Amino acid sequence: MTKVLYIESSPRKKRSTSIEIAHSFLKHYEEFHRDDEIKTMDLWQKELPPFDGDIIDGKYAIMHGQSHTEMQRKAWRNVEDLINQFKDADKYVFSLPMWNFGIPYKLKHFFDVIVQPGYTFSFSPTEGYKGLVTGKPALVVYSRGGAYGAGSGGESLDLQKSYMETILKFIGFTDIHSIVIEPTLAGDEAKDKTMKNAEVEAEKLAKVF
Ligand SMILES: Cc1cc2nc3c(=O)[nH]c(=O)nc-3n(C[C@H](O)[C@H](O)[C@H](O)COP(=O)(O)O)c2cc1C
Repeated sequence: MTKVLYIESSPRKKRSTSIEIAHSFLKHYEEFHRDDEIKTMDLWQKELPPFDGDIIDGKYAIMHGQSHTEMQRKAWRNVEDLINQFKDADKYVFSLPMWNFGIPYKLKHFFDVIVQPGYTFSFSPTEGYKGLVTGKPALVVYSRGGAYGAGSGGESLDLQKSYMETILKFIGFTDIHSIVIEPTLAGDEAKDKTMKNAEVEAEKLAKVF
C-alpha cells in the first residue's frame, strides 16, 4: 500500500488557503488512488523535541564520529522516532504559508529535527553530501500574502520556496511539484483568481502524482 504523508504547517486551519488547496489535492488524490493511505501530521499539534541539550550534543557526536553517551542515546530516541515517521512514507505533501519571507517556525523546527547525518543525508570526503530520502515525490503548496513570482520584482525575497526546495533536495528529493497561491492579501479578486488556478492545478496533479 502506498503511504502518503501530509505535513500541515498553517495554524489558521479553516481559514487557511494553503490547507484548503492541500485538502482539495488530497480529496482528488483519494479518488484516483483509492487504496492508498493518507496520514496527516499537523505541526501545530505535534510535539517536537527542543533541539538543545543532549539532542544537539548527540548530533555533534555523530558528526565527529563519536558514539552517543547514555543520555544522548535516550534523547536521540525522539529524533529517531520522528525521522522514522517521516521516512515511512512513499509520497509527501507539504502545505505552508510564507512567514516573514520564509517558512513558519514549526516547519523549520521539524526540519531541524529530521535533517540528520546518517538518517536523511550522508557525508563522506570522497562523495560529499548525499540525500538519503530518494525515489519519492513531494508536492509543496505555498501560500503568500504578496506576489513573488517571475516578473513580480519580489523574486529575491522569496525565501519560502527557495528554502523548501533547497532542504528537500539536500535530503534526496528530486521529484518536487509545487502549487503557489499568491497574492492572498491584495484584495478579493486577486485571491479568488489564485485560489481558482490552484484548485485546477491541484486536481490535475492529483491524477499523476
Ligand atoms: C507571522 C506572519 C508573517 C507573514 N509574513 C509574510 C511575508 O513575509 N510575506 C507575505 O507575502 N505574506 C506574509 N504573511 C501573510 C501570509 O503569507 C498569507 O496570509 C498566507 O496566505 C497565509 O497562508 P494560510 O492561509 O495558509 O495560513 C504573513 C503572515 C503571518 C501570520
